[in-house]
Amino acid sequence: MLKQISTSFKLILILFLINTIFIVAGFSMSSNSEAALSKGEKIFKANCVGCHLNGQNLIRADKPIIGSSKLQSKQAFKKFLESPTKPMPKFENITSMDARFNSLYNYVITLMGK
Ligand code: HEC
Repeated sequence: MLKQISTSFKLILILFLINTIFIVAGFSMSSNSEAALSKGEKIFKANCVGCHLNGQNLIRADKPIIGSSKLQSKQAFKKFLESPTKPMPKFENITSMDARFNSLYNYVITLMGK
């Protein structure tokens, strides 16, 4: 009787452990790519969205982000953020940090598909 209980208890424990491994593995895999994306999205929301909601241009409607030639390459985008056409402000706080700049670029180009 006692032995039976402990055997099924072990089984439940093993099943529980296997489940936990899958949950943890699945979570860390999805949160990795999600984190990379949402980082760029966060930077965009904090710095750009006020004038560029949904990749549009609320100040100069004829100059949206979507379809912009400034996004053809990372270099062109970086150059533009370092010396944009006024009244758009400079973003050296982003271009001076590769990780931030890359996250923002990766997010901004996803707006193109919308
Ligand atoms: C204060 C408002 C403002 C903010 C904030 C702003 N922009 Fe702009 N942006 C503009 C204006 C105005 C233009 C059009 C400039 C012009 O006349 O060529 C522009 C143009 C652009 C263009 C080029 C469009 C084209 O093809 O001419 C890109 C790309 C762009 N912005 C990206 C960004 C990104 C990325 C951010 C955030 C890091 C940002 N902007 C923040 C106002 C803003």
